[in-house]
Order: sequence, then structure tokens, then C-alpha cells
Amino acid sequence: MCGIVGYIGNSDSYPVLVKGLHRLEYRGYDSAGVAILNACGELHTYKAKGKVEDLERFCCDKDTAGSIGIAHTRWATHGEPNDVNAHPHVSENGEIALVHNGTIENYNVLKQALEEHGCTFRSETDTEVLVQLIQYIKESTKCPLLTAVREALSQVVGAYAIAVIDKRTPDTIIAARKSSPLVIGLGDDATYIASDATPIVDYTDRVVYLNDGEIAIIEKGKDLRVITFDNEPSDIDIRTLKMSVSQLEKGGYPHFMLKEIFEQPETIQDCIRGRIVGDKVRLSGVSENEDVFLGTGRIIIVACGTSWHAGLIGKRLIQEIAHIPVVVEYASEFRYSTPIINPDDVVIAISQSGETADTLAAIRLAKEHGAFVYGVCNVVGSSIARATDSGTYIHVGPEIGVASTKAFTGQVTVLAMLALAIGQLRGTVDSTSVRELASAIKALPVLISDALKLNDEIERLSGIYTYVHNFLYLGRGYNYPSALEGALKLKEISYIHAEGYPAAEMKHGPIALIDHELPTVIIAPNDEMHEKIISNIQQVKARGGSVIAVVTKGDSVIAGLADHILEISEVPECLSPVIVSIPLQLLAYHIAIKKGCNVDMPRNLAKSVTVE
Ligand code: G6P
Repeated sequence: MCGIVGYIGNSDSYPVLVKGLHRLEYRGYDSAGVAILNACGELHTYKAKGKVEDLERFCCDKDTAGSIGIAHTRWATHGEPNDVNAHPHVSENGEIALVHNGTIENYNVLKQALEEHGCTFRSETDTEVLVQLIQYIKESTKCPLLTAVREALSQVVGAYAIAVIDKRTPDTIIAARKSSPLVIGLGDDATYIASDATPIVDYTDRVVYLNDGEIAIIEKGKDLRVITFDNEPSDIDIRTLKMSVSQLEKGGYPHFMLKEIFEQPETIQDCIRGRIVGDKVRLSGVSENEDVFLGTGRIIIVACGTSWHAGLIGKRLIQEIAHIPVVVEYASEFRYSTPIINPDDVVIAISQSGETADTLAAIRLAKEHGAFVYGVCNVVGSSIARATDSGTYIHVGPEIGVASTKAFTGQVTVLAMLALAIGQLRGTVDSTSVRELASAIKALPVLISDALKLNDEIERLSGIYTYVHNFLYLGRGYNYPSALEGALKLKEISYIHAEGYPAAEMKHGPIALIDHELPTVIIAPNDEMHEKIISNIQQVKARGGSVIAVVTKGDSVIAGLADHILEISEVPECLSPVIVSIPLQLLAYHIAIKKGCNVDMPRNLAKSVTVE
């Protein structure tokens, strides 16, 4: 949540900051702001409620000159989204400006103490407390900015990534992180800071990922310095970014979400590349840890949101192919459930962003209990990717649309390969099955391309259902999680209430909802449960409900029963969620577009949830 950008160099900072904010807008978009230090030593702060474009409109007649600046796009936690609560926050004496991603849990105590010292607050945010505290420490102890920041952070409890500038030290930005990400880009004559690498990629491919508990001192014309909160120098590990600017643009599509849906034949290809060799699946994370996967008696999957849905599919895959018992937990519940974690458990953490606070906390807990933690992440170098013992990247490229699409299919594909790699190792799957499944995985990109041809049909269909208030999604087996994910996509971007249910459970409750106003999406490819799902369709129809069915091509039985069918290609049951999800993503997209919703930035949501 919230995006931070910073620039220090020889050019004007404002264009870099604003372009960076646009890139980070997926992290939060209820207000935005910039603070810029100019050559006369003046600090100009401009903030606006709304999107980054609202900030740009506000700034168009303002003095934005200055080659040092910090900027922020917000997803509100403390205080409603408005101009005052927007970041940057400025100290009472007007000298220090600060942007913050995260939460300060003890802000109330700190605020009261500062008020007792005569400090007055303008906003309702936790962030303002931090900037006032830095000012207070600096003034009362006559120390330099860096010392004041270090001291302030030692008093703060919470999660944060911050960037601070000070009129008194106009050639310096100080940045620090604890549990929220921060990347520093090293250009030839400028240095950049951002919550992720997307605002940096236009200018340099040399980056440093700040570790938890580190402070970066970025001074104009000088080498980057990094120290720990205890004032010990840290090693600087410069990495090369493997990201291209074109991946961050819409490439002719009206929305990132549609682009990302249509990219899936290529992203799944990238996800598979080099991992199916001959007839075998090769994942270095498994082959380098054979003892762990041979010795484990249980796998615990932790994740949130869409990644949790992928985890439910992963459970079935691993149990069926590798014969290891698997439990799937919401990371947010797991961390507070006094979980029983054994040292021979493998914990698989699934996360697109690699920054989700609850998933990170679950990983820490698992490690404290001695479990081996395996990551399935998309963002290379992210906190979760670094906190895990080993893992497999899904390699689907940057996902910008807030509703996850290509990451979900990438996660399921990696989990299928993971199940096969573990199954091969443990001898629970024979070579014929491995060969058949491996070749089915390789065929996924073609089958996805085929499913994407449904786009026009789904666009027409969406017109019929645009103004419906509720939807039910049903599926069984591997496609029960597909139903959950289909329902989540629809509610996230169209604000239509949608519930996913295991089809057989319909008769235990949801059937009471069915009438002519409640459409049901039924996922019914040719699989073991086909006959049973047909009877669910009949039950819905008998109660006046309409049915949109996702079926295997040529299914004349369901074609004769359902109101609408969306035909996909034949695919093994365990991989069917990858293909089924394409029409479900398109249905949610087109309904949301017809309702006039902002599909890339749905209200109240953020792509990366770095707070509890
Ligand atoms: C947010 C996003 C979802 C995502 C979830 C977990 O809620 O809006 O799309 O599934 O976080 O995120 P992660 O990055 O850990 O997969």
C-alpha cells in the first residue's frame, strides 16, 4: 500500500517523481503529493486528493523547480483520503518533509508525548507523528538529520519505508525500511528511490534493494551509503534489473487488465521456459533441496487473496501427484492461530507482489519454528522472495492491473510443475504420467490463445448481465477454487456481489438465493464431476435462474440446458483452472467496463497490501 518515489540529481525532479507515481499508482490512489527542494533552499510541498493526474492538474501553475524531491501516492490507513492527510508530511517548522509506506502502531503514544512538548498536528495520520518526532529530536538534541532519523526509528513500532528531506541538508535524501519495500536506482548522475523498481527502469538498470533495518544516505554527487539502524555500515549489493519499459505500458490495450489477460499465452510460456526438459520437470528449488522434499511429512501453503485461491489448487496438485498432505491457510489467520509447525514441514508462501504483510509474517513464524520456507513469487528481489529459503519465480512480468490475472495462471502453472518435480523425486508419479502432464503444461499457451477467442462473445454476453446485483459461481474439485477466483474478479472490479461455492454445497444454502434475478456461472468442463454438475445446472434452471456454463468444446448436453455456454479446449482436469480462468477474467472485465468502472484501479483496493 502506498507508493514512494524520490529523486536526487542534476535535473528537475518533478517530471521523474510524477512519472514514477503513475507507475506506482497500483499501490494506492486516493491522494498524492510531492515535496521538492529548490536551488534557493526552499521546500515546496503540493498535495491533492484523488489520483496522480489530480495532483498534476493542481501543480500545473505551481513552482515545481528543484533537483531533489520525494513523492507519494496513498492508500489510506490512518485518516480519510484528503489533501491534509496526503503525503508528504512536513514538520511544524516547515523544514523536514517525509513520505511513508506502512503503519506506525504506537503513533498515539508518540503523538501525546509530542503534544505535551507543545507540538501541534495538522493531519490525522500516523506519518505526521514521525516527521514531528524527527524535528523534535533534531532540535532538542541539536543533532544532524541522520541521527534524528535513527533515533526516531528506534522509538517507532510498526512497518515502514520512508524517505526524508531537510531544508538544512539540501543535498541529501535519507531513506529507511522495515517490512515495507524500498529500491534505490543508481544512475550516472542521479539516484532514485522507489517502492518498487518500476519508476526506476526508465533511467537505470543498476539497483540496490534495501534490507529490513537499513538506512540509505543518498547525497548528491556522492556514492550511496547504507547503514544499519545500529549505525553499522552495510554491504551494498548492486543488482541488474531485468525489466523493460514496454512491460510497464499498456501496449495499445485500453487497460492494463485487458493487456495482462491477453498476455497469458506468452507469460505462461515464460513461466515454463527451461523448466520442462525432455520428459521431466526441473525446478532448481527442488533439486537443490532434495533432502527437504524427501524428508517432509506435510506442506502448509500460506497466501492471501488470489494467491490463496492458487494455493487451494496447489493443494490438490501436490496431494494427487506427490502424495504429501497439504493444508492451505490464509496467512492472516495462520499467523494468529497458534499454528503447529514442525521442523520437517515445508511452508509454501505464494505471493504475486512478494510484499504482502500477512504472508511475510507467516513466513517469519514458520522460520521461527524451524520449517523450510519455499516461495512462489512474481516480483524478483521482493521481500518474500528474499525471506524464503528457496523458491520458484512465476516469471509472468510486472502485473499492474489491481485485479490479478496473469499471476494467478502463472502460480497454478508453477504449482503444477512443483507437484511434478516433488512427485518425480519421491517416486509417487510414474514416468508416463510425468510425460503426459509435462506435455499438457507445454500446451497451455496454445489452449489459452484458443480461450481468448471467446473475448467478443463474452463482451456481448456481458451486456445482458451488466446491471445484475448478485452472481453465484459454482465449481467442483480443481474448479471450486476457480469459482472462488471468478467471483473475486467480478466483485473486485465491477462491485457486483458474487459468491463462489463448491457446486455440491449449493443445496446447503445458496440454492435459497436462486431466482430469475440471480445468474449462476457454472464451471463444468469434462471431468470426473461432469454428471454431478449437470444436475446442479438442472436445479438452478428449475428455480428460474439463468446459467452461464464454462464447458469443454462439443458438450451438447450442457449446451441444451444452460442459457449461455463458453467453450474451452480439452485439458487435463488438474490444469483446467488455468484455461477456465480466461473466460472468467474476461467476463468480469467486460461487465465492469460496461458499468463504467475503473478496472485497473478499483475503489478501495490496492495491489500490494503491505499493512495488516
Ligand atoms: C491484494 C491484491 C490481490 C492479491 C492479494 C495478495 O488484495 O489486490 O490481487 O491477490 O493482495 O497479494 P500477493 O501479492 O501476496 O499475491
